[in-house]
Amino acid sequence: MSLAISPEMGEFLFNLTLLKRPKAILELGSSRGVSTLYFAEALRVLGKGKVVATEIDESKCDTLWQNVQSMGLASYVDLFRGDVFSTVATMNESFDMVFIDIWASGYLDVFQKVEKLLKPGAIILADNMYTSSDEVLPFKNFLNNNPGISNMTLDFESGVELGIVL
Ligand SMILES: C[S@@+](CC[C@H](N)C(=O)[O-])C[C@H]1O[C@@H](n2cnc3c(N)ncnc32)[C@H](O)[C@@H]1O
Repeated sequence: MSLAISPEMGEFLFNLTLLKRPKAILELGSSRGVSTLYFAEALRVLGKGKVVATEIDESKCDTLWQNVQSMGLASYVDLFRGDVFSTVATMNESFDMVFIDIWASGYLDVFQKVEKLLKPGAIILADNMYTSSDEVLPFKNFLNNNPGISNMTLDFESGVELGIVL
């Protein structure tokens, strides 16, 4: 079974990136790079920006980077290998978009670590809100009760959380 996003979700990420025109996108859980490629292709169309990809599995990282290079998108992607919790602990740059797609039980923990890196107006995206509804519930409740974030679950695919930092 593939854990990668579907083409429909990919088109959504592509078009949302074109709309937002982000300087920097943080992707949490990149696997072999399917979602990374949709973000990076949108940045190529825009002619600027970067997507920071994160992945713990070394062999997936290797495949991701081969995919990025074969599509000619390397200048739009930075890859951080290793546990995303260690990766984000060292970051101090700010982001215009974050896409959360690690294992669902980690959504709230990782979001609480990256929240301070998000600019006002930043877009928050999280996959698997329906397919992992029990595991993502703490994250969903945290967003729902956060006065600094407006959010809703988009009713397509595996359930996609869309949030905006106020
Ligand atoms: C659902 S897949 C991501 C799919 C990817 N976004 C795509 O569209 O191809 C989840 C990925 O998160 C990675 N992952 C899970 N926990 C992680 C962690 N703590 N740090 C980094 N990567 C992690 C897994 O190895 C897996 O490849």
